[in-house]
Amino acid sequence: MSKLVQVKNVFKSFGDIHAVNGVSLDIQEGQFYSLLGPSGCGKTTLLRLIAGFEKPTSGQVFIDNTSMDNIEPNLRPTNMVFQNYAIFPHLNVEENVAYGLRNKSEKKSDQNKLVDEALELVGLSGLNKRSANALSGGQKQRVALARALILKPKVLLLDEPLSALDKKLREQMQSELRHLQRAVGITFILVTHDQYEALTMSDRVAVMFDGKVAQEASPRDLYELPNSQKVASFIGEMTFIKGEIVGENKNLQVQSEIFGKITIDKSRVFGQSSKKMVLGIRPEKIAIVPKTSRSKDLISGKIIDVSYFGETTNYKVSCGTIETLTISSQNSVGQLSYSVGEEIQLKADMNNIIAFSV
Ligand SMILES: Nc1ncnc2c1ncn2[C@@H]1O[C@H](COP(=O)(O)OP(=O)(O)OP(=O)(O)O)[C@@H](O)[C@H]1O
Ligand SMILES: [Mg+2]
Repeated sequence: MSKLVQVKNVFKSFGDIHAVNGVSLDIQEGQFYSLLGPSGCGKTTLLRLIAGFEKPTSGQVFIDNTSMDNIEPNLRPTNMVFQNYAIFPHLNVEENVAYGLRNKSEKKSDQNKLVDEALELVGLSGLNKRSANALSGGQKQRVALARALILKPKVLLLDEPLSALDKKLREQMQSELRHLQRAVGITFILVTHDQYEALTMSDRVAVMFDGKVAQEASPRDLYELPNSQKVASFIGEMTFIKGEIVGENKNLQVQSEIFGKITIDKSRVFGQSSKKMVLGIRPEKIAIVPKTSRSKDLISGKIIDVSYFGETTNYKVSCGTIETLTISSQNSVGQLSYSVGEEIQLKADMNNIIAFSV
């Protein structure tokens, strides 16, 4: 794979607001790449800088090894799908899609063929003459996609394209968008603030806070090896426990009240500025084990809160210290359920603990 989009130390300020504050990214050809972060962290601004709707205050964007410094948006090999679909209500489906060809001088018959191909890609074949007013939210989104895809851009930029859809439709469109991206092989850069959307759809994800990239990784690494407490809490849930370094060789030995003394591989240690550390563990890496279990390293606790989610149940457990553990348990066949007040035993997967500097 080769680098298709390179963002090199880009800054963008609006007055004294630093919307993008020193971002560098390499996006490979054919990747499904997501920019993920909370509202106001600079995702849209970064996307608009790549599209050319904004000029960097400093830094550069390259596409296909060519500097985009003096290249207008319509001459870049990019196309953008906006959050609010921006399709024309007074035009029908095919007119909306053909609008994507406005700067091209194809013959009418060639245009029709391109429109039909684009509509087929997004599953709207045969709806050419349907008025845009008569479309559902999901169909409007598909029209916007078809219009952006009709010119076969090298890079498709998508700014929260699914956020206006209800949950079920959004999930369906997520999987369709992923299939579509694989089928056309175009590089997609998706902006989202929904961590599950980013994890399930992307090859790589850049997590942004305050105009900066906090971590750039595959979805699995982001979830399994978040490089800070902030990233860990933004992506899913994690329990944090205070710990102190009591030994160090090729691993780190950390003492904490709940886990006792444990050994942590250096690949799971992020930052180390003093003896004080914070240990992080995901809720599904702790299991409630039967009272009769004699396995070693069990932790005793008492359930203080239960949240039922259908396929899983979350338990908050007090282990006799001020800190509590959160456990997520699959409600699969044979799995017992527990109530507030019950005394239980836990087994934590110590190999899954991560240590962060305080
Ligand atoms: N044209 C502009 N003029 C002034 N400030 C702007 C402009 N565009 C963006 N900003 C500011 O820059 C920061 C980043 O905005 P941006 O729209 O990139 O965030 P975002 O991550 O896309 O947020 P959201 O998830 O809410 O869409 C915000 O503080 C925003 O108010
Ligand atoms: Mg935005």
